[in-house]
Amino acid sequence: MNYKVKGTYDVLPHESHQWIELERKIREILSLYNMREIRTPMMEYSQVFHRESEGSDMVTKETYNFLDRSNRELTLRPEGTAGVIRSYVEHKLYATQELEKVYYIGPNFRYERPQKGRYRQFYQFGVEAIGSSDPKLDAEMIILAYDFINRLKLKDVVVKINSLGDDASRANYQKALTAHFLPHKETLCKDCQERLEKNPLRILDCKVDAQHPAVLSAPSPLDLLNESSKNHFEIVKEHLKETDIHFVIEPKLVRGLDYYSHTVFEVDAHIEGFGAQNTLGGGGRYQNMIQEMGGPDLGAVGFAFGMERLLIALNSLQIDFSKDLELDVYILTTSLEMEKPATKLLYNLRKANWVADMNYTQKAFKGQLRQALRLKAKYLVILGDEEYAKQTVSVKNTETEVQETVALSSLIEYLKDKLEK
Ligand code: HAM
Repeated sequence: MNYKVKGTYDVLPHESHQWIELERKIREILSLYNMREIRTPMMEYSQVFHRESEGSDMVTKETYNFLDRSNRELTLRPEGTAGVIRSYVEHKLYATQELEKVYYIGPNFRYERPQKGRYRQFYQFGVEAIGSSDPKLDAEMIILAYDFINRLKLKDVVVKINSLGDDASRANYQKALTAHFLPHKETLCKDCQERLEKNPLRILDCKVDAQHPAVLSAPSPLDLLNESSKNHFEIVKEHLKETDIHFVIEPKLVRGLDYYSHTVFEVDAHIEGFGAQNTLGGGGRYQNMIQEMGGPDLGAVGFAFGMERLLIALNSLQIDFSKDLELDVYILTTSLEMEKPATKLLYNLRKANWVADMNYTQKAFKGQLRQALRLKAKYLVILGDEEYAKQTVSVKNTETEVQETVALSSLIEYLKDKLEK
């Protein structure tokens, strides 16, 4: 027997309706925000993700990198943003649209330690608003993230926001963090000792040192914002206050990727049984990536939600948000002679847009019936030799158990009348 790759999962036929409905809702809600879908490849040349400025664990330690048969270095995307920006720059979308608002839905790959809500192949839906540094666009992204969660009826969700400030503020913050952690270097975990040299911000989201006193007492980036960065963040908050969304300022929120500046945010769920992976989504502003990829000096802001985590949350709150496929009609035959008329009838039922099926494995009537009931068909249409000779069939409502004889010529009308009620 073969097994699925560690950290991956199958969406089985009885589960896929939830995915389809979630994707439908995403598209419906995002269109309200004037966003269109972008689809970029799952693999990119490695340099798209492995940029010099990106020292996050996600990129340096968790990417799936490989050489193709022509020795090109490729990476399976660990997230959506970098590929979208690569595409935006490659196609010079900035030349035709001042602001490009896009969304995407698709799989990403990270070599992480798998657990509930954390996989090596996982789906994200994400949005990017590219081409503007306007702080009210940061607010719009947070509003959208909140609105989305609200429309899914997910409760006990907290929106946390923070600001890392512009490049200058960020650099000052890095210095302040280095000075803060240096006296505690020996007591930090090995990875954090290295982070202290290269990228002290990353110490703040270390899982090992999360409760280290020096981490708990570390300064906040808010303490080191310069005037223009403070102003940017003020405008974001003022715009958020124009809505009824609940947000909290989380002064230590820095996020796990290095490309952010100014606003960062996360949406956490406090749902029982959700486990450690309670961040549903997150994002923020990034000001340098477009230029780093060879485009103009333009800012962008976006976020992404983990689809598995959304589904875990919806299911643990028992929110009934999608229905499995329901079968309207199931055809049963009483003899071999009835199989061809059954094929014809099935074809006509589907032409009339009913969800219909018949049996392909059971010859005996009893077996067919069992299968029809297992599939919870609303109506059974029984093709019997004698009735068929009179151009009639038996139609049974499986709920009321009422059975009637119906002329074949009026069957579609009959079902229409019953099923549309
Ligand atoms: P991220 O925080 O790395 O951000 O991922 C966003 C969301 O993806 C997480 O909050 C989580 O729900 C889900 N996620 C991440 N890793 C896993 C995993 N291994 N298994 C299951 N779910 C996971 C980004 O990816 C940024 N690109 C977001 C962004 C867009 N920022 C600006 N624009």
